[in-house]
Amino acid sequence: MTEKQSLEDQLLTVLKNNDQKSFTIPAEGLYPHQWLWDSCFIAIGLRHISISRAQTELKSLIRGQWSNGMLPHMIFDSSHWYNKDSSLWRSHLSLHAPDNLNTSGITQPPMLAEAIVQIGAKLSKPERRTWYQQMYPALLSYHRWLYNERDPSNDGLVIQLHPYETGLDSTPPWIDQLNKHYKPWWAVVIKSTKLDNLINIIRRDTRHAPPGERMETMQALLYFDVIRKLRNKRYDIHKILRKSDFVIADLSFNSIFLRANQHLIDIAKTIGRDLPKELVAKIKSSQDSFESLWDAYSSQYYSRNLATNKLIKEPSIASLMPLYSGCITKERAKQLVDSLIDEKKFATKHPIPSVPLNSKYFDPDRYWQGPAWINTNWLIIDGLRRYGFDQYADIISQKSIELVEQAGSYEYFNPLDGSPAGARNFSWTAGLTLDLIKTKKPNTRKTVRSKKAK
Ligand code: GLC
Repeated sequence: MTEKQSLEDQLLTVLKNNDQKSFTIPAEGLYPHQWLWDSCFIAIGLRHISISRAQTELKSLIRGQWSNGMLPHMIFDSSHWYNKDSSLWRSHLSLHAPDNLNTSGITQPPMLAEAIVQIGAKLSKPERRTWYQQMYPALLSYHRWLYNERDPSNDGLVIQLHPYETGLDSTPPWIDQLNKHYKPWWAVVIKSTKLDNLINIIRRDTRHAPPGERMETMQALLYFDVIRKLRNKRYDIHKILRKSDFVIADLSFNSIFLRANQHLIDIAKTIGRDLPKELVAKIKSSQDSFESLWDAYSSQYYSRNLATNKLIKEPSIASLMPLYSGCITKERAKQLVDSLIDEKKFATKHPIPSVPLNSKYFDPDRYWQGPAWINTNWLIIDGLRRYGFDQYADIISQKSIELVEQAGSYEYFNPLDGSPAGARNFSWTAGLTLDLIKTKKPNTRKTVRSKKAK
């Protein structure tokens, strides 16, 4: 058996073991439910194994859709022994939540359109049309919900209400805002009495991964408190917007949404539907407003806090995500590539770190504050290709495959020495690595080394 076959076999085994028949859990133990963007990434991998299983993965997401169009970031498996997660969210408090399922009350990056199209690419034309017709109503209503509820400034940039909505849970721009604008009295007491060390003992995630690889306890408590506030307002956006500490137009989320809108337009065209006029206008406004996230001084894009109307000038992996959006100019794309190949920023031995090396937040082992993740690599590889930077896309793709081959299908990896961290047998790492292998061009099968990379 060749080495390549054995890696593929390992990836297939991870996906098979995490398969719950209609959906795939991200990893046993730490993540026993269904997550929105995880299922999309997983489906992109599954399409190489079984198209119909990949389709089932996405259809199972739709069962959690709220009546207002929101796709929740988690659908809980009620049969699982660990049910505390769903009682934290209590989705039934909202009139829009489904009756027969428990879900979370927030969303996650809108990857659904991408996953639908990736599956569509493997189908014949008539099959693709049927597939798109099946998925179009749910996708359309999700994108409409994002504009209806999450664009309070009416400029096309959509807001997020909790760091979990970005999928980059513990990312510096959000931590920065948390530290600056969110200090409930109890947090001050816990901090000053060092009670957080005690609380760490009852955390579930740190039973599955070392505390140094997860978010700090105080941060986890504050995240919990933000959920509690959203829940108290029954996830009603009007009540939430009246007074909210977190109202951020997140750079990564909006980059993904721009790309998703392009896919939505293509899907509608393929099945001969006209997108509603107001939606077409909204999509145009998103593209026009995106440039307002650019900071000429530091030559970077940032997220914006709507409460202060200021850019949050903390770089992270989100800084590179406009490449995936496909909506920036070639000149801007080149500026982002410059930081991708800069050894002081993102050009590590095992790219791409989730925070640049020169950030004060950089920590090679901690969750979203340094480690490399295969999903963000996949998104940036895809963006690089569409801007014609195939050479860099090939390098990152090859290095991602090698990393998983050496370290295993882990949740994330130390970008300096390649050591694995977080959950083992992690589904999107398996699915997307499989996709990178299957979509690799023949001439890049050998290792390509970047001159600049360490
Ligand atoms: C972590 C990640 C999030 C992912 C979830 C399930 O919370 O930050 O992006 O969806 O795990 O894998």
